Amino acid sequence: MIGIHFLLVALLLVEIKANCLVRDADVLATNRIFAKRVGSHLELLRNNLVPTGGRLRSFCSSSDFVDSTCRANRRFVPALPTSNCTRKPEAIVELVDDDKCPFSMFRVGYKLNVQQFLEVYRSCYDIATQRSVFSIHELHRHNLTTKCISSGFTTENVTISRSFQAKSILNRFNEILGKQNYTSNDRPPYLFNRGHLTPAADFGFCEHTKATYKYINVMAQFSNINNRNWKRIEHWVRQLLAHNEKLTVCTGGLGILQLENEFHMPTNISLASHNRNPVYKWIYKLVKSNTSHYAFLTYNNIFDGQRPVPLCNPIICPTELKLTPSALAGFSFCCDVDYFMSRYLSHLQSVC
Ligand SMILES: *[C@@H]1O[C@H](CO)[C@@H](O)[C@H](O)[C@H]1NC(C)=O
Ligand SMILES: *[C@@H]1O[C@H](CO)[C@@H](O)[C@H](O)[C@H]1NC(C)=O
Ligand SMILES: *[C@@H]1O[C@H](CO)[C@@H](O)[C@H](O)[C@H]1NC(C)=O
Ligand SMILES: *[C@@H]1O[C@H](CO)[C@@H](O)[C@H](O)[C@H]1NC(C)=O
Ligand SMILES: *[C@@H]1O[C@H](CO)[C@@H](O)[C@H](O)[C@H]1NC(C)=O
Ligand SMILES: *[C@@H]1O[C@H](CO)[C@@H](O)[C@H](O)[C@H]1NC(C)=O
Repeated sequence: MIGIHFLLVALLLVEIKANCLVRDADVLATNRIFAKRVGSHLELLRNNLVPTGGRLRSFCSSSDFVDSTCRANRRFVPALPTSNCTRKPEAIVELVDDDKCPFSMFRVGYKLNVQQFLEVYRSCYDIATQRSVFSIHELHRHNLTTKCISSGFTTENVTISRSFQAKSILNRFNEILGKQNYTSNDRPPYLFNRGHLTPAADFGFCEHTKATYKYINVMAQFSNINNRNWKRIEHWVRQLLAHNEKLTVCTGGLGILQLENEFHMPTNISLASHNRNPVYKWIYKLVKSNTSHYAFLTYNNIFDGQRPVPLCNPIICPTELKLTPSALAGFSFCCDVDYFMSRYLSHLQSVC
C-alpha cells in the first residue's frame, strides 16, 4: 500500500510540474495577445508557462479568441493559433480610480470590454507639473528571448515631451542657471535620458515591452546614472526571479534636483517652463515578493561628488549587487524598507 501511495504522490508531482510552454516561435507566429483564465476572469499572461489543466486565451478582441487547454502531455489543445487578427490588439492608456495616486492614475493595457482590462503596468502622473510620480508593475519569471524593438515613445497626456531633447535641455539650463557649464552640448553623449520607471526589459512578451515606451512612464535621469548603478539595480531585481515566480515593483522619484546658478544660488531644475518636467533628486525602487522586501534609492546628481546623506536608513546591500560609490555612477543605497516606506511612501504600503 505504501508503495502504491508513494507512486501516486510521485505521479501527482510529475503532473503538477508538467507545464505547457508558450515559445518564442508561438509569439512570433501571431499578432494575438495571450491571457490566462483564472476562475471566471482573465489575466495577462506574463510568464510563458501554463500549468497542466490551465487555460490560455489567444485573443484579438473580447469576441474573437481561441481558448486552449494545457494537457498532461505538455501540449495545448487546440494548438495555439497561428492566424492573425485583422486588427492587432493595441495597448491603450486609460484613467483609473486609484487612491494610491493623489494625481492621475493611468493604466496601460488591453481593454476587452467594460469589465475586462488586462493591465501591463500603471503610472501615477501629475498632469499639472508634467511628471511621472511612480509606476507599479509585476515581474514574472519567463524564458522568452526574442529581442524587441520599440517603434518609439507615445505622448498621451504629456505635453512637454520635447523638453527631453538635448537642444531644449541646453537652452533651458542657460535660461534658468545663467552662465553654466553643466552642459554645453546637444549631441551625444546626452546629459539626460528619458529614464523608464517601469523598465522595458522586465517583460518577456514584446508587446508588453513596447507598452513601456510612453512619456507617462518616463523621468529625466542622468544618462550616466541610468546606464550604471540604476541599470545594475534593475538587473539585480530581474535576477530575483530565479527564486521568486513573481515580484511587485514600484518605481518613482522624490525631491527636486538643485544645481547652483551663476551666482552660486541653489536652483530647482526643471526641463520645461513653469517648473514643469522637474528633475528628481532621488529615484527609488521598491520590490516585494511573498518572501522578501527591498528598497533601493539612487541620488540623481552627477555634479555633486560628495556622498549624500540618504533619505532612508541605509542597510548592507545584497552581495551580488555591485554598486559603484561615485556621483557619476549615481550614489545608491539599499534601505530599511519599513522605515523608508512609512516615512515617504506610505501610500504604496498596500502594494509594494
Ligand atoms: C502574423 O503577424 C506576424 C507579425 O505579428 C507575422 O510575422 C506573421 O507572418 C503573420 N502571419 C500570418 C499568417 O499572416
Ligand atoms: C525555456 O524553458 C523550457 C523548459 O522549461 C525549455 O524547454 C526551453 O528550451 C526554454 N527556452 C529557451 C529559449 O531557453
Ligand atoms: C488625458 O487625461 C484626461 C483627464 O485628465 C482623460 O480624460 C483622457 O482620457 C486622457 N487621455 C489619454 C490619451 O489618456
Ligand atoms: C565654468 O566656467 C567658468 C567660465 O565661464 C569658469 O570660470 C569655471 O571655473 C567653470 N567651472 C567649472 C566647475 O568648470
Ligand atoms: C511564495 O514563494 C515561494 C518561494 O518563492 C513559492 O514557492 C510559493 O509558491 C509562493 N507562494 C505564493 C502563494 O505565491
Ligand atoms: C524648489 O523645489 C522645492 C521642492 O523640492 C520647493 O519646495 C521650492 O518651493 C522650490 N523653489 C522654487 C524657487 O521654486
